[in-house]
Amino acid sequence: ARQQDLAGRKIVITAGPTYEKIDPVRFIGNYSSGKMGYALAEACASRGAEVVLVSGPVTLQTVHPNIQRIDVESAAEMHRAAADAFKDADAGILCAAVADFTPEQVADQKIKREKDDLVLRLKPTCDIAASLGKEKRPDQLLVGFALETCDEVSHAQDKLARKNFDFIVLNSLNDKGAGFRCDTNKITIIDRTEAVSYPLKRKQEVAEDIVDKLSSLFHS
Ligand code: C5P
Repeated sequence: ARQQDLAGRKIVITAGPTYEKIDPVRFIGNYSSGKMGYALAEACASRGAEVVLVSGPVTLQTVHPNIQRIDVESAAEMHRAAADAFKDADAGILCAAVADFTPEQVADQKIKREKDDLVLRLKPTCDIAASLGKEKRPDQLLVGFALETCDEVSHAQDKLARKNFDFIVLNSLNDKGAGFRCDTNKITIIDRTEAVSYPLKRKQEVAEDIVDKLSSLFHS
């Protein structure tokens, strides 16, 4: 039944890190590789969905013809692209590791080395997940991710409610072989009624598990 269970669905996926500019040659980024998001895009596309992949800077390639890729750099650019694509989408999967803060000012010229400390003032970025969660219609589904270092399940449950997700995928930093840059991941899928833990698997297989859950909600 996996075959083409997402035929006719449009799914927006955010993936990878964001880069927040400091000056023309420097940025604040993070270690996200984009592998989980790209695996989700391939899984959705191969099951018949039309995918819009809003991607931060990564070195990965997309192969499936049903994936329309929009390359962005900053949290603000990712927000614009994702919000626009979500309007007529059936679901959103927010897998990107979006910066929570961005420099208040971007220097026009490369910042010079000085003897004094350099102070960068940062302002909060837009929470893309919360903003799509607010816009979400009853016919749309929204899936989020959480990476926690303590009280994982209760923090994830909190995020599920706060950002209006239909379910949230928790990856734990405490699990070996899970999370950033790995080819494998170990997840717990949490919705309003239950938390289901999966064994360590390759990200391609993890993606199929997540898409199975999404697909079951379309059909319920
Ligand atoms: O609050 P926290 O960043 O831990 O939430 C993680 C979830 O929210 C992920 O699904 C992530 O993609 C999303 N998120 C977002 N925009 C942000 C911060 C997080 O979409 N600015």
